[in-house]
Amino acid sequence: MTAKSFDYASMGFITFDCLGWPFTAVPPGGGCYMIDEITMAVSGAAGVAAIAAAKMGLRTRAIGGVGPDLMGDWVMQRLHDFKVDTAMMQRKPGWKTSSSIVTTRADGSRPALHMKGATGTFTVAREDFAKATDATVFHLGGVGLMDAMDGEANARLMRHAKESGCITTVDIFAGSADDLPDVDAVLPYTDYFMPSIEEARALSGLEDLEDCTKFFHDRGVACCVFTLGGDGAYYSHTDGTRFRIPAFDIQVKCTCGCGDAFDAGYAVALCKGFDPETSVRFAQATSALNATGLGSQASVESFEHTLNFMKTTPTRR
Ligand SMILES: Nc1ncnc2c1ncn2[C@@H]1O[C@H](COP(=O)(O)OP(=O)(O)OP(=O)(O)O)[C@@H](O)[C@H]1O
Ligand SMILES: [Mg+2]
Repeated sequence: MTAKSFDYASMGFITFDCLGWPFTAVPPGGGCYMIDEITMAVSGAAGVAAIAAAKMGLRTRAIGGVGPDLMGDWVMQRLHDFKVDTAMMQRKPGWKTSSSIVTTRADGSRPALHMKGATGTFTVAREDFAKATDATVFHLGGVGLMDAMDGEANARLMRHAKESGCITTVDIFAGSADDLPDVDAVLPYTDYFMPSIEEARALSGLEDLEDCTKFFHDRGVACCVFTLGGDGAYYSHTDGTRFRIPAFDIQVKCTCGCGDAFDAGYAVALCKGFDPETSVRFAQATSALNATGLGSQASVESFEHTLNFMKTTPTRR
């Protein structure tokens, strides 16, 4: 196998977020409430993952679409700031950058208003598959939102990624069983499937954790790593390895991008060759740091910082 140019290729959902904290309620009429903090962040299951991974030292390429608008300018600038390769980022004429207004409550929960935008329109052509998968880990983040790629096109690209020796990871944006065909299309080529438990349940129609993992193993996934919010994460591999690890005991500021930061942490762990339990702990450490600041990846600094956090922070009981 030839050496890869990148450690991590992160493709899919890349958004601009504007966040405010603490949100209590929409003011009546045309009123105004004062809040303490407003910030911006690149978000999405591919965007957060790309920047958080780059902060932790992975040579990272982002693949996705943004519009020729101010949000797109800013997203591109941020990717450059963290030395994420943008050769495969597309500016889509006539489209807006996928964007959210996120209103984060004092408890860290974050109701949002989202505009779908260019994530739904970018494509990777067959002749660019080799370039897109020129990475040790190929991550498809935001299956269900990539309207022009979801289904057969993503399946072909993921098959190519496997055939060219990538480790593949998949995260999704799924609210119901209607999203299952798009997810199903890529599962046979997925090494690590990393949805939230809510999404796994919505797709499978099953409640029990192990029933959910079996559902996805039967569809071709080698390893399910479900995130359980404040309850941690659950790992289930077809080799029989199964375990659950609690979340870190932190003061939560904003949980926006926690699952996406988990994807980045897991990719770092794969590149470092960590064992499964350390990988899940490291991924959760990345999520926990993400959750202590406002806006995706806010408090993720570096590999050493995340490792030290993992070693020194207690987990929840
Ligand atoms: N309240 C919390 N306290 C501590 N850790 C948390 C909390 N919420 C989330 N996490 C951490 O973040 C990880 C991922 O969170 P979660 O399951 O909420 O992802 P998600 O729903 O996919 O999020 P996203 O919207 O980013 O996709 C968890 O496994 C956990 O380690
Ligand atoms: Mg998620």
